[in-house]
Amino acid sequence: MEKVIEIQNLTKTYPLAKKLGRQGNKFLTAVNGISFSVEKGEIFGLLGPNGAGKTTTLEIIEGLKRQTSGKVAILGLDNIADAEEVKKRIGVQLQSSQYLHHLSLKELLDLFSSFYKQPKGAGTNSTSPLQVVNLEDKASEEFASLSGGQKQRFAIAVSLVNRPEILFLDEPTTGLDPAARRSLWGLIKKINAEGITIVLTTHYMEEAEFLCHHVAIMDQGKILEIDQPKKLIDRLSETTQVSFFTEGRITPELFTALPEVKKIHASYPKVILEISSLDKISAIVNLLKKEGIAFYGFMVKTATLEDVYLELTGKEYGEE
Ligand SMILES: Nc1ncnc2c1ncn2[C@@H]1O[C@H](COP(=O)(O)OP(=O)(O)O)[C@@H](O)[C@H]1O
Ligand SMILES: [Mg+2]
Repeated sequence: MEKVIEIQNLTKTYPLAKKLGRQGNKFLTAVNGISFSVEKGEIFGLLGPNGAGKTTTLEIIEGLKRQTSGKVAILGLDNIADAEEVKKRIGVQLQSSQYLHHLSLKELLDLFSSFYKQPKGAGTNSTSPLQVVNLEDKASEEFASLSGGQKQRFAIAVSLVNRPEILFLDEPTTGLDPAARRSLWGLIKKINAEGITIVLTTHYMEEAEFLCHHVAIMDQGKILEIDQPKKLIDRLSETTQVSFFTEGRITPELFTALPEVKKIHASYPKVILEISSLDKISAIVNLLKKEGIAFYGFMVKTATLEDVYLELTGKEYGEE
């Protein structure tokens, strides 16, 4: 696999205002010695809570900020020495984008296109940027008249004007309602399917799990794990939880006979069993039938990235 981004030991410290520095600390380490690489054609996600260092990492790769130490290679170029060349070949959707008033979407896109030596209105291979983001019917309207989801989609259209090889999206769906979020997910997959590598940040576990081929879980400036979401989940010792109610009291020991069952929590009338994978469920159902135990409310919950985060950090996601 060809690597389009390679990061080694990246660190970024920010000077702290004197009053804020606890115990005489003069610096805040926002990114703390992280290394990872991004493969050509994939969707790569930086996932973590607010303050984890995601935006800082992204802005360093994009050439908007300088690292304190460490090396960043992007498309075989250096993020600092070759910043001008890098800018021509990437697309950046900035957080909270603001655009000139009184210009229509089409006029704004033409303006941004004029910054590049590219055919005007170039989008992905076959379609114009407004077509790609499904805003063609709004071409003559002003940015301010758009809904939140449409504004985000327009920001992505703008980032596509130079036919970028890599597209960077910083929390593309934050603040959007569920329907707008889903529509944006579809859009991100569509752009990726045209061959554009995408690097995004998110604090939504579900988003990372659904969209990303690889995800780096970040917390306090460090990367805790990197892998395919499914592999991160499969690595958990218990990936599936089965729960049900029984009519009569049962002895929990009943289930110790099943090697598939890793943990048993039984508190009448509810039984919760942790099992290593989904295909062990039939053994449980068979045992209940064989023993003539009446049960109801049978539920299966499979692990998510949230459980991975809990195991890695010992804290619930979203807890401060
Ligand atoms: N320009 C800055 N000056 C000082 N501290 C900053 C600056 N930008 C970010 N930080 C701090 O660095 C840490 C990481 O921030 P950021 O990269 O924005 O994280 P995230 O995008 O994951 O929320 C936070 O503690 C934040 O307050
Ligand atoms: Mg951020």
